[in-house]
Amino acid sequence: MSVLVEPHLPTTNVLVEGLERPPVQPTALIVFGATGDLSRRKLLPAVYNLAHDGALPERFELVGVSRGEQTAADFRAMARESIERFSRRRPDPTVLEGLLAEMHYVPGEFDDDAVYRRVAATLNEIDAETGLLLNRMFYLSTAPQFFPLICGKLGDVGLNRAEKAQTRIVIEKPFGFDLASARRLNAKVLEVFEESQVFRIDHYLGKETVQNVMALRFANTLFEPVWNRNYVDHVQITVAEAIGIEGRAGYYERAGALRDLVQNHMLQLLALLAMEPATAFEANRVRDEKLKVLDAIVPPTVTDVPAMAVRAQYGPGVVGGLPVPGYRQEEGVAPDSRTETYAALRLRVSNWRWAGVPFYLRTGKRLARKLTEIAVQLKPVPHLPFQDTGSIGVQANTIVITIQPDEGVSVKLEAKIPGTLMRLRPVNMEYRYGTAFLSQSPESYERLILDAMRGDATLFTRDDEIEALWGIVDPVLAAWEADAWSPIPQYPSGSKGPIEANALVEADGRRWRRL
Ligand code: BG6
Repeated sequence: MSVLVEPHLPTTNVLVEGLERPPVQPTALIVFGATGDLSRRKLLPAVYNLAHDGALPERFELVGVSRGEQTAADFRAMARESIERFSRRRPDPTVLEGLLAEMHYVPGEFDDDAVYRRVAATLNEIDAETGLLLNRMFYLSTAPQFFPLICGKLGDVGLNRAEKAQTRIVIEKPFGFDLASARRLNAKVLEVFEESQVFRIDHYLGKETVQNVMALRFANTLFEPVWNRNYVDHVQITVAEAIGIEGRAGYYERAGALRDLVQNHMLQLLALLAMEPATAFEANRVRDEKLKVLDAIVPPTVTDVPAMAVRAQYGPGVVGGLPVPGYRQEEGVAPDSRTETYAALRLRVSNWRWAGVPFYLRTGKRLARKLTEIAVQLKPVPHLPFQDTGSIGVQANTIVITIQPDEGVSVKLEAKIPGTLMRLRPVNMEYRYGTAFLSQSPESYERLILDAMRGDATLFTRDDEIEALWGIVDPVLAAWEADAWSPIPQYPSGSKGPIEANALVEADGRRWRRL
């Protein structure tokens, strides 16, 4: 008699599952730049939401460090106000009070040794009070020029390691300004910390839909067989934003779109899309595979750049029905600024899987709408037997992974139009996060802070990876900097971007997807 074995069925309801609660060792999170914009908008609300979910370690303390001369009570008041304003969920008063009670504050300049001695003393007091040795997680959320300084000082006072507890350091973006400075920063950080202690943040990797790229590719047999040069015509990665620079001229004037979004977030999307399957979802195995893809992107020579990269700036226009100024009219921006707010690139991944398949990347601020998506355009079928039956608009299949908003995946298929004729038209097969999973996705910082506290670096950028990322954009930055004369193309705010970017895809007989 044969026995039918039922496949293993999950006992939990995946539709209502929220953030998991993996065990986390008692931890002190020390945030440098704790009163800054990122901390107020993202970090403190993320920590609150972890507390709300019961995901923080049983013993958790937060030490804010910043230049503001204020008391711990002032800091807690600021934290409360930030959490109430920016948390994705309305704060529960009991949880919030509990979290605020665990907050400490150390004021001072980052170059002052006394600050680090006070941080050390605060951490020792916390350990003495709790009777535990808390893990220490330093979070550098300051302006990037302070990263090497703070690392060095932490090393000087011996805060780079602790006996019988883990010490980790999370470093915000931008990690470097170009390849040379990223190398110098890596060298400085690694003088003080081991690579296994370092967590370089790219908040895109904390996004649910970004991680889903791996789930989609490596947990389904459906896609992988076509995920290569035999079936893929080209790939388009779009990060369009409707917002402008939002008062960040000081940072953005030096950065520009290529440094701000392409070097990190967009190339990470490309790497996840194009990498070979890792044998396990484990930090070094995943990062080894991403690194191989990045290494396979042959950086352009400076003379190649005009044919593979386009830059532009937003001019005045209308966004959401309201008139907005152009980039050069923004406060703090030079009236003759050459900083790009739009960048488009054509890259090639020179390996067996992807040879000959162009990867088009475009990003811009003040575009018609916010949209982050990866579109994998497949080749047309070799022969279509329906031409004579009145089919119109028959197109090749496209797999679109929408990162935000309306997170989901859609596959454009050809289907028969109901009726007596064999006529076809494109239809979409869709899966939307909002309807498939009832729980609200956590913010990317929640996931990343928790992972770093657990010592899991899978979703963080390794030293060699960050240098490979810079290596790809460095020649483009150099070519643009060297060309200080050609006019920078302008596009109206609220538009689809500069017409100059069309040439990049049209030269290959292709078109940008509709924004
Ligand atoms: C940041 C950039 O890293 O990412 C910003 O500095 C950009 O300029 C932001 O607006 C986009 O992030 P998200 O999560 O809104 O897509």
